[in-house]
Amino acid sequence: MKDILNDLKEIVGCRVSASLAERCCYASDASLVEGLPDFVVRPENTQAVSRLLRFCSEHKIPVVPRGAGTGLAGGASPLQGGIVLDMSGMNRIMEIDIENLQVMVEPGVVQEKLNQALKPYGFFFPPDPGSSAMCTIGGMIAYNSSGMRCVKYGTVRNYVLDLEVVLADGRVIHTGSKVLKSSAGYDLTRLFVGSEGTLGVITRAGLKIQSLPESRKLVLASFEDAETAGQAVIKIFSAGITPSACEILDKTTLQVLKRCDSNLALPNDGDVILFEVDGTKNSTAEAALKIAEICGPLSKSVRVASSQPEMDAIWAARRLVGAAISRLDPARTRIYVGEDVGVPIKQIPALIKRVSQITAKLDLPAMKYGHIGDGNLHVALFIDVMNEDQWERLRLAADRIHRAAMELGGTVSSEHGIGLARAQYMPEQVGEEALQVMRSIKRALDPLGILNPGKLGLEMK
Ligand code: LAC
Ligand code: ZN
Repeated sequence: MKDILNDLKEIVGCRVSASLAERCCYASDASLVEGLPDFVVRPENTQAVSRLLRFCSEHKIPVVPRGAGTGLAGGASPLQGGIVLDMSGMNRIMEIDIENLQVMVEPGVVQEKLNQALKPYGFFFPPDPGSSAMCTIGGMIAYNSSGMRCVKYGTVRNYVLDLEVVLADGRVIHTGSKVLKSSAGYDLTRLFVGSEGTLGVITRAGLKIQSLPESRKLVLASFEDAETAGQAVIKIFSAGITPSACEILDKTTLQVLKRCDSNLALPNDGDVILFEVDGTKNSTAEAALKIAEICGPLSKSVRVASSQPEMDAIWAARRLVGAAISRLDPARTRIYVGEDVGVPIKQIPALIKRVSQITAKLDLPAMKYGHIGDGNLHVALFIDVMNEDQWERLRLAADRIHRAAMELGGTVSSEHGIGLARAQYMPEQVGEEALQVMRSIKRALDPLGILNPGKLGLEMK
């Protein structure tokens, strides 16, 4: 180990640590999946990453790339020791190229920082996860993250034009260019999007950007139950309206939000849908009215938020809700398992019903919220972590929720990724043959299996 540390110092200078305290800090992401790296390396440029990976290939040392560690499926947890490659220090916005409608960034740029830099130009980068104040663009690309606005604007996948990637053996490639479309060969850009650090290390990204809308409006509709809320969503879509965000907050979520800020102008009861529309002043006014009309007969109450500060406060609270759940019961902790299943939108009411039945049968409190316009539901289960029986019921519930999503033609992960937490579902989720194709791609690009080993179910037999 000492020799390796010295070699690493030759490659990255003082940007390597073998101290136990630091290694423990990098043992996991925001999930329960843990490992312990032997070293933490913080590279400062592509050349360093390239030299490092060449060295790691020669010595068969595992390398796990990491952004801000906000992942929820264990994607950045080092299962087999080796090196955690902390990319958060490579955080320069290299170019803002408004004429070409794009930016070039390093992977450590935080989503919100990018949007702050784009705002004066009247542009934004739409994918907007709950963790946008912390998460990095590199991590978002590695997991094809999405969040609140993808119901209208699409996921990260729709925005990546070009990636600079360091392969396992240290070669550096570009997967695209500045052109907005290309038909030249295999789409390597999309291959790396969502690859969870198993195929290469992203060191630079060219991203499409979007002009900021002139106006946004928010309609808050409250329903007797979550299934009716799901039906309203389908009706809005069928009427040809595409909201720029469409989020469900069930009754429990509403309680949590009110405990965070009792002044929030949210409905008093029911299961709530937030419909945001964006566009010109006239088009948003018209769309908001139409949404209110359609929700009318199905809902308990419906109203349009009156001001920008009111909308901002509601969105800020929505971002915090995952962490704020302990306000409901300080003795319980939210455990991230089975929390981002997704189904085709027609199946939303069925998914909500199945999830409610599963958690009720196991007598587990659950908060349901999320990007219902994409068919993506966050089920937040929270337990007393000292109670073995509650752990057991939690694991059962998570498994049943994942399986319910697959039975309804959906996915075990709409946005948080597979990592280790969902690896066991990969054969059923993608099919044995498709998984074999993924394994062939992995072998072609990383024959020694040094990149993020143990993830995505690639090594399962
Ligand atoms: C959110 C995270 C949990 O939407 O994806 O808040
Ligand atoms: Zn989410």
